[in-house]
Amino acid sequence: MFDKEVYIKRRKILKSNFDSGILLFLGNEDSPMNYADNTYHFRQDSTFLYYFGISEPALAAVFDIDSDEIILFGNEMGIDDIVWMGRQKTLKEKSVDSGLTHVQPLGELDEYLIQYKQKKRAIRFLPPYRPENKIKLASWLDISITELKSAASVKLIKAVVAQRSKKSAEEIVELDKAASISADIHLMVMQQAKPGMYERELAAKIQEAALSYGGNLAYAAILTVRGEILHNHYHGNILKEGQMVLNDSGVETALGYAGDLTRTFPVSKKFSSKQKDVYNVVLDAYTNAKNALAPGIRYLDIHLTSCKTLTQGLKDIGLMRGNVDDAVEAGAHAMFFQCGTGHMMGLDVHDMEDLGEQYVGYTDDLKKNTTQFGLKSLRLGKALETGYVLTVEPGVYIIPELIDRWKAENKFVEFINYEKLDQFRDFTGIRVEDDFLITEKGSRMLGKHLALSVDEIESIRN
Ligand code: GLY
Ligand code: MN
Ligand code: MN
Repeated sequence: MFDKEVYIKRRKILKSNFDSGILLFLGNEDSPMNYADNTYHFRQDSTFLYYFGISEPALAAVFDIDSDEIILFGNEMGIDDIVWMGRQKTLKEKSVDSGLTHVQPLGELDEYLIQYKQKKRAIRFLPPYRPENKIKLASWLDISITELKSAASVKLIKAVVAQRSKKSAEEIVELDKAASISADIHLMVMQQAKPGMYERELAAKIQEAALSYGGNLAYAAILTVRGEILHNHYHGNILKEGQMVLNDSGVETALGYAGDLTRTFPVSKKFSSKQKDVYNVVLDAYTNAKNALAPGIRYLDIHLTSCKTLTQGLKDIGLMRGNVDDAVEAGAHAMFFQCGTGHMMGLDVHDMEDLGEQYVGYTDDLKKNTTQFGLKSLRLGKALETGYVLTVEPGVYIIPELIDRWKAENKFVEFINYEKLDQFRDFTGIRVEDDFLITEKGSRMLGKHLALSVDEIESIRN
């Protein structure tokens, strides 16, 4: 945990947005994998971590704005828990570490809320994403599960998003740490990958390293020779000479802060000339995008810069043609780049995605208002502010099924050279990804430098 003053200050800032009512926060529970006692790895809810720092299942907290008190609801370990799990810090001790003074048994929350509802004061909560919390909230508040999302408090969502979006000094230390550890692991993978290995052998090394550094993976690693499959979690292929490995993996620190890095490297000692050409196009898009990061710049424009750079580069290779601006406006580049250039990052790898993209990535003035393939997957569009942490992750992905579909429809023939593209059907995909902090002057990459250029990567592979 951070020092208790950090949590006290965060709660004070949040409270100052409200004049009355209560704010109800639910922590996560242990989630059964195949039976109740065999659970998935426990991960606390990120907003709960942000305001309380206590990573323990089955907690809830109430900010009572009217009486100006904050109550933590949870249960102390009983003797059975101690027998099976060993003596741990008591909840009371943890609450003191968090700067809290008031703890009540979890069973009393129900009665507390009933009494509160009778006073007809507002009970504000965030949109729940775990089934257990949906069931609890629906029952406590006497509304249906389907109504919960719209009943969540927009005012509370906006206040939390505003606060969590701007990372404080102690958070930046954690995010730098997450990015540096992730970079070390990427380097180790690039050094150890060999033709003949299974992808899963490398995925296992990533998992092992993340645990040995004292944290965990921030998300399931994408480690694949089929890099065109955007969120590919299959690890059963054997690495072969001539292929590329796309490694998108990052750790979360013990306090829960994420790193999210991608590198693509050749299984052989060197990239083929075709791979090198496309790699450099992706690298140009990355460089132009990261150089444009600054407060006041809309991430939508960063994304369009990266799309236009990709389009120009693919035109130079002969895969695209026509006017670059027109091609991007029409969405023709999405044959090669079907997703967004990046997203916010923090306690979640896609930070605050549970709170709603319209609040985290967009604003009332800049609503996401498109169904265009590619652009509709951009998670972040709004103007950047100092303290934001985000990723830049352009890529080129050659998806045979998409080629066949668009070619059959004669789609964007003025912008896509389908004849040339046929020679790239089995090319797979390339992405590079780093994490950036928005600063007053522009941006700073988080963590240590990780081999990025073709030369740097090939020198590791040799
Ligand atoms: N690791 C998932 C992403 O890059 O968004
Ligand atoms: Mn990412
Ligand atoms: Mn990633």
